[in-house]
Amino acid sequence: MANPPPPQPFGKPSLPAGKPGGPTGKSSATSPPSSPAARRGFMVETSAVVIGGIVGLVPALSGLAVFLDPLRRKSSAEKLLRVTTLDALPDDGIPRQFAVIAEHVDAWNRSLEPVGAVYLRRNKGEATPQCLTATCPHAGCFVNYDAPTNSFKCPCHNSTFTVDGQIIEPSPSPRAMDTMECEVKDQEILVKFQNYYTGKTEKVVKE
Ligand code: FES
Repeated sequence: MANPPPPQPFGKPSLPAGKPGGPTGKSSATSPPSSPAARRGFMVETSAVVIGGIVGLVPALSGLAVFLDPLRRKSSAEKLLRVTTLDALPDDGIPRQFAVIAEHVDAWNRSLEPVGAVYLRRNKGEATPQCLTATCPHAGCFVNYDAPTNSFKCPCHNSTFTVDGQIIEPSPSPRAMDTMECEVKDQEILVKFQNYYTGKTEKVVKE
């Protein structure tokens, strides 16, 4: 008498021997099928999985770029920024205000953005100008140059400063106007622009 067939696991249909996926078949989920039509289907499915993976990676990578963006901005803020040319700053000792423009780069765009303003001043025969930030150290208003008194005045709480940025008492500002590193290269004036905390007696760079 013939032996009965071995029991099959519950929920898993048995496949005939010799068929793909069966006990002695050559194809499985991880190896391509042998017939041309089945192979085409296998290639289409594999391509769809690969393309889907790449498409899924794009938002993840752009998210990473946005996450790293403040780090990139920090490094660009530490560079010397071109402000103007030496020809545009007469050596007559009178301060002139210039906007400071920095390049901003994010995941998709590269743009120029104003980041602040400085006063540049050059005395007769001086090769390198003096650079003062235009922001008042008291609470951050923009100071104005007052030509009749040859001094700086802050319109917010009346701090006043000499033409080279020293405090004229009485003034509520806790310190002199902030100086910045400045250099001339190929007739262009470059400034290491930084923001400082207001309301402090010491000049402290904002990170
Ligand atoms: S912000 Fe300039 S005096 Fe207060």
